[in-house]
Amino acid sequence: MKVLATRRYPGPAFDELQDVEIAPLETVTSAQDGIEALILANEPVRLELFPALRLIANFGVGYDRIDVAACAERGVAVTNTPGVLDAATADLAFALILAARRRVVEGDRLVRTREWRTSWADSFLGEELTGSTLGIVGFGRIGQAVARRARGFDLRVLYTRRRSEPTELGEQRGLDDLLRESDVVTIHAPRTPETEGLIDARRLSLLRDGACLVNTARGEIVVEDALVRELVSGRIRAGLDVFAHEPNVPEALLELPNVVLTPHLGSATRQAREAMTRLVVDNVLACERGEPLLTPVPWA
Ligand code: 8YV
Repeated sequence: MKVLATRRYPGPAFDELQDVEIAPLETVTSAQDGIEALILANEPVRLELFPALRLIANFGVGYDRIDVAACAERGVAVTNTPGVLDAATADLAFALILAARRRVVEGDRLVRTREWRTSWADSFLGEELTGSTLGIVGFGRIGQAVARRARGFDLRVLYTRRRSEPTELGEQRGLDDLLRESDVVTIHAPRTPETEGLIDARRLSLLRDGACLVNTARGEIVVEDALVRELVSGRIRAGLDVFAHEPNVPEALLELPNVVLTPHLGSATRQAREAMTRLVVDNVLACERGEPLLTPVPWA
C-alpha cells in the first residue's frame, strides 16, 4: 500500500511502513494516482489530488480540519489516535493550572531578571489550588483523566457533558453554571460546529474575578478576541496551549503576566507521540491487510 506521510512521525513504528513517501501536502499540486493512504496531523486534504485514496490516518485525536463528510462520500476511511494521549494532555492541563495559579512563569522571570531581592518573595502571592473548584468542559477520556488527577488536589469537580450519566468523578452542570461556580475551568471538548465559539464574551464574563481558564483542546472553542480582552483587563488568568490561528498567538498576550503560553504541547511527550505513531501505523497496516481499522472515525 503506497503511503504519503506529511512528515516522518516519531518513534520506531513508522519504520514498519514499507512504501512511504514523505512530503508536506502543500507540495502536492498534481494528482497522485498511486497514493492509497495519507498520514497527516489534522491537515485539510484536497481529495481530488488522491484518486486512489482509501485511508486518512490522522496523527492526533482531534480531526476538525479533515472533511469527514467528503471522505465518506468518496469512501475514504478516516482514523484518529484516541486514548494514547489522554495522560499527556491531562498532565499538561495540570501543569498550566498550577503554573497560572501559583505564578510559576512570573516567578521564573523574577529570578532570571535578578529582580528577586528579599529572602522570600512576600508580595508574590498566588492562589491555592488545593480545595478549589475545577470545572471541566467536555467529559470524554481526557476530561475524565483530568478529574482523576483532581482527586489528588482535593478539588471539587464540576463537568459538562452532552449526555447525562452520573459518575463518582464529579457533579454535572450546565456550562453557564459551571463557569459561575468554578475557580479553574479547563476545556477538553473536541472542536465541532457546536463547540466553535462556545466560550464567548458573555460566557467569559460569568467567570469569577481571579478565575483561571485553561485550554489544551482547540483555540477556536473560545472566542479569542473576547478572551484577550478579559486577560488584558487582568480580571482572570489563563493557561493556553492552543490558539485560533496557530502558530500565531495574539500579540497582546505576549507581555501579560496573567497568562501562561505553551506551543500546542498537549500530546508532546515521547511516550504519547510514539504511541500515536504506533496507532497510526497499525491502522494503515490493518487497511492494507483488509482487516477492521483499530480506531475509525465515524463517517456520519
Ligand atoms: C496534535 C492534538 O494533533 O491529538 C490532538 O488532537 O491536538 C495533538 O495531539 C498533535 O500534536 C499533532 O499536531
